[in-house]
Amino acid sequence: MILRRLETRGFRNLEDQVLDFHEGFNVFEGGNGHGKTNALEALYWIATLTPLRAGKLTELVAFGQSTCLVRAEVELDGLQHRLECGLNGPERVVRREGKATRAAAYFGVLSAILFTPEDAGLLRESPGARRRYLDRAIFTGRSSHLSVVLEHRRALRARNESLRSSSDPHLLEAFEGTLAASGARLVTARRAFVQELSAEFASAYAHVAGSGDGPVLTYEPSLDLDDPEGHALSLAADRARDRDRGFTGRGPHADDLSISLEGHPARTFASQGQQRALVLALKVAEIRRLRTLFDLTPVLLLDDVSSELDGVRNARLFEVLSDFKGQVFVTTTDSSHIKTPRPASVFEVLAGRIRGRPHP
Ligand SMILES: Nc1ncnc2c1ncn2[C@@H]1O[C@H](COP(=O)(O)OP(=O)(O)OP(=O)(O)O)[C@@H](O)[C@H]1O
Ligand SMILES: [Mg+2]
Repeated sequence: MILRRLETRGFRNLEDQVLDFHEGFNVFEGGNGHGKTNALEALYWIATLTPLRAGKLTELVAFGQSTCLVRAEVELDGLQHRLECGLNGPERVVRREGKATRAAAYFGVLSAILFTPEDAGLLRESPGARRRYLDRAIFTGRSSHLSVVLEHRRALRARNESLRSSSDPHLLEAFEGTLAASGARLVTARRAFVQELSAEFASAYAHVAGSGDGPVLTYEPSLDLDDPEGHALSLAADRARDRDRGFTGRGPHADDLSISLEGHPARTFASQGQQRALVLALKVAEIRRLRTLFDLTPVLLLDDVSSELDGVRNARLFEVLSDFKGQVFVTTTDSSHIKTPRPASVFEVLAGRIRGRPHP
């Protein structure tokens, strides 16, 4: 897939503009606060319909305005596609090929994998962040995963509300049926993903870290069952306790992904550099898995490949990615730090205005 063109209107601090991209590397260069990450965010949003930085969707709209719009032209297998997403006040509008569509019918044209400096904290964050990572990574290869996640979230909310309001027991049972079915699908998908990623992950880590300390990826379920019947039985068994607590204790919403290094939990045992390398290896493994299983090459978004301090890490990253054939978008304060292995376009970002200039 190639993102040929991007148009932004009323998006954060970006000027209303149209950008034509290189099919290889695209480098956004500019000083702090000029809008480089905002440009990547526009790309990430139109690819995933998720804002890159946490917070409310309305934060994407330029200060003082009430609407924003991002349009993309994407080439996939020789066909041209048009994607559009925008906000009218709080309301999100999504279009594919010019027609308003639901999110489920929107995906499939553009997939993105994001590398940001914040990724390094994934191992130290809450289990919720790792679950979101898993679900997002699964979704990148199979967009229907989103509907499983949403269905499970709705069913969980319904059961929790029903537990607290101690209403009709038949209603609770009905919610448990849906929760068990979507929960079992969620766990099955996550386990399969972890298994598919494992070998690539170990080899990517060996490459990134320059040593193979044998990192191991494990899905840690709170319920040791994969089938809907098992999920339903344990929900029924947990009913009294869950009612006392007012929420559902066990299920995929309480699971975690653990990473260990030399047999110890990386969360507490690995150094900061090792943690960064582990997360980087996860992403590289993700890219390889997409190619192997789905013949899919996403666009890569690399935020803040900047400081000289990070020179070694960045050099490694580009080396590891050197066999990546897809399109790459990079932000940096100084493009001389970036040794792209392939031809590139450089875009200067100045106070929200983005202008292409020939790469030296
Ligand atoms: N909704 C918005 N409307 C207008 N401006 C915004 C909005 N949201 C953020 N900004 C502005 O965008 C700027 C930040 O842009 P961005 O994060 O893209 O900078 P950057 O070029 O990536 O900087 P750095 O090199 O420090 O990462 C800030 O000045 C911020 O005030
Ligand atoms: Mg930035």
